[in-house]
Amino acid sequence: MGLTGKTVVLCVTGGIAAYKAADLTSKLRGAGAEVRVLMTASATEFITPVTFETLSGFRAIVDTFDRDFAWEVEHISLAKAADVFVIAPATANVIAKAAHGIADDMVTTTLLATGAPVVVAPAMNTGMYDNPVTQQNLATLRARGVLLVEPAAGRLACGDTGRGKLADTAEIMHVIERALTRQDLAGRRVLVTAGPTQEALDPVRFLSNHSSGKMGYAVAARAALRGAEVTLVSGPTALSAPRDVAFVPVASARDMYDAVLSRADAQDIIVKAAAVGDYRPAEEHSEKIKKAADDMTLPLTRNPDILAALGGRKKPGQLLCGFAMETRDLIQNAQDKLRRKNCDMLVANSLRDAGAGFQHDTNAATLLFADGSRETAPLMRKEELADLILDRLLELA
Ligand code: CTP
Repeated sequence: MGLTGKTVVLCVTGGIAAYKAADLTSKLRGAGAEVRVLMTASATEFITPVTFETLSGFRAIVDTFDRDFAWEVEHISLAKAADVFVIAPATANVIAKAAHGIADDMVTTTLLATGAPVVVAPAMNTGMYDNPVTQQNLATLRARGVLLVEPAAGRLACGDTGRGKLADTAEIMHVIERALTRQDLAGRRVLVTAGPTQEALDPVRFLSNHSSGKMGYAVAARAALRGAEVTLVSGPTALSAPRDVAFVPVASARDMYDAVLSRADAQDIIVKAAAVGDYRPAEEHSEKIKKAADDMTLPLTRNPDILAALGGRKKPGQLLCGFAMETRDLIQNAQDKLRRKNCDMLVANSLRDAGAGFQHDTNAATLLFADGSRETAPLMRKEELADLILDRLLELA
């Protein structure tokens, strides 16, 4: 979502992984970015400019030094137009030049001229990558604020096995998106809970609910993308953990209680999006319960309320955001919850709103604040609502 309408200048340098830049171009364009490709002369030995021109819809600028004035101006204007400047794949050679300010071709002169954030995705032979001089050059770039996309380890085209494979397209896209995202949560520690809890009855059965975890995962992913140090404590879901978060899987409400309370003091912001089971079977049977009578009554016992416990021991400056899922009297119930659990903010959604609540990719909500004010968030993607929640929490910080 952060790529829509952005200009990505993609520099392709001469290595066997150059063909993978075609996939990157295609995916970036698919995500709504305008991709302008610059190629070094040696890159054209591996893949032709026509491939990039077809995929990007723009002329690929090739480093030919043909003294074409229009091109010369174009590459400087691209340096200015770039929202993000990406070198993928980046050879040891271009990394060395970038580290030392050498500008002897289109790619390196444009790089030197740009003020945009720079993303470098190295790809090379393991020996070249591990060589201290390359590592030192990478450290220089990192210290200068360049975002590096770590190469993967594996079998390389040259036959060696080790580090040096270009990171996969999804990973490079993620770092590009991060480069385009304001790091307004940098330095903040955020803990998010998500998903349902599972309360075991016996070794084969449990009590749970329909929570998909999507809302909490969206909050964790957006917070991480905005620079926060994120811990995600999650009940069982079908989702994979977002990138760049410390992931703590749990099952029962009591597991979640322990995982959250033991980490709570270190957090600046806690967002409790999990649908925690209020009750659990009074007894967890160690053997499978066999059927007997036609009727069966299951004694239940209350689970600890994690949010209320957090509200009771909130340290100064810490922000607590709860969620409430209601089927009626939404605002009244949510207001009571906010007060009872000592929250700074509460996100209330009604199961009755179309497109909102469990399982959906969208959500509509009312944000309630401790000072009694509230804000209506219309139906939007859960990522957008996540950003809005984080925006409001930042304003309270
Ligand atoms: N919550 C919690 N621990 C529980 C129950 C709920 O931390 N044992 C948190 C949820 O993560 C959510 C908020 O409390 O942020 C509200 O959850 P909800 O189930 O709507 O509220 P309850 O207090 O359980 O009220 P009720 O079920 O009576 O509506």
